[in-house]
Amino acid sequence: MENKNIILTGDRPTGRLHLGHYVGSLKRRVELQNSGEFDEINILIADDQALTDNADNPAKIRDNIINVVLDYLSVGIDPEKTTICVQSALPALHALTFYYLNLVTTARLSRNPTVKAEIQMRGFADEGLPAGFFTYPVSQAADITAFDATVVPVGEDQLPMIEQTREIVEKFNKTYGETLVLPKAMIPENETQRRLPGVDGKAKMSKSLGNCIYLSDDAKTVKKQVNGKMFTDPLHLRIEDPGHIEGNVVFTYLDALCTDDHFAEFLPEYSNLDEMKAHYMRGGLGDGTCKKFLINVLEETLAPIRQSRSMWEKDIDSVYDILKAGTEKAQEKTNEVLARVRKAMRIDYFDDRNIISDWKKMLIK
Ligand code: TRP
Repeated sequence: MENKNIILTGDRPTGRLHLGHYVGSLKRRVELQNSGEFDEINILIADDQALTDNADNPAKIRDNIINVVLDYLSVGIDPEKTTICVQSALPALHALTFYYLNLVTTARLSRNPTVKAEIQMRGFADEGLPAGFFTYPVSQAADITAFDATVVPVGEDQLPMIEQTREIVEKFNKTYGETLVLPKAMIPENETQRRLPGVDGKAKMSKSLGNCIYLSDDAKTVKKQVNGKMFTDPLHLRIEDPGHIEGNVVFTYLDALCTDDHFAEFLPEYSNLDEMKAHYMRGGLGDGTCKKFLINVLEETLAPIRQSRSMWEKDIDSVYDILKAGTEKAQEKTNEVLARVRKAMRIDYFDDRNIISDWKKMLIK
């Protein structure tokens, strides 16, 4: 094993990506990609994992693979620097999952807090729990180890998966000898990045709650979400009233997105967000002004993404080729790791004819 700095991260292709994804992971991925600090960056479109709770609707996953790639490309993921690949086309991942399943107990899987919460949310507790869903953390361990990933940038909810992966790596290496790389999780730096609320202030952005701003939304839709739905401060009735920042979604979004340059450009009365917040809390700054500023900031962020997306949308053949080339590269890499694993387990029967002499010796005895 070489000493390389390798990133692997991924998404389930179950829908278009939204501002929560952008703030929580996509923006960071582009920064990491352009930092020059990594030898390899891989993004896995986890369509097999998505099927573990969508087995009845593979068409949804199929459709969203292209949406997710378009979202990646339009935020600035550069296929020259980052390998984008599709999970189901990497058979090494399936084989690794099958071996790792033997290194994990069902009791351990039952303790995974994220999976537990998802089982409740999806009603699997009553309907019956698909074994594939129950064991997807093991398949995720295969994803991560198959790329020799050292760093896995993820949301906080994914920490139990990385923990589980580390346990599998340790168990594997102890049982079969040093073979797999021990990965580390990298989570978003601050609270706002970790958990951008929906426009209604409720929970995270989620399709079913209709509280998302999608990267592919047009300017009119974004404006409508902010003006029509965005939660501010219910106690701030008149402009002169003192306002509250905490739980005020407009300020949460500004915390996540706005820079001092945005003030210079759109709201020069203030030089930064702290000054604006101070005025709001003192009283005298209306929600309308705040929302108008936020819409400008959102547009500044989203317009280039939207523009880039519409260019890529006109060239789906190229997007397909990017995905195919990335997947082929990933096939090579993951097959190498699988070969290493089989060798460590000494089940590489047809790669190593020495087994013939071993068998002969054993039979003579
Ligand atoms: N479980 C991740 C999610 O729901 C997606 C994922 C699949 C992933 N495989 C991965 C993330 C490997 C990081 C590494 O967001």
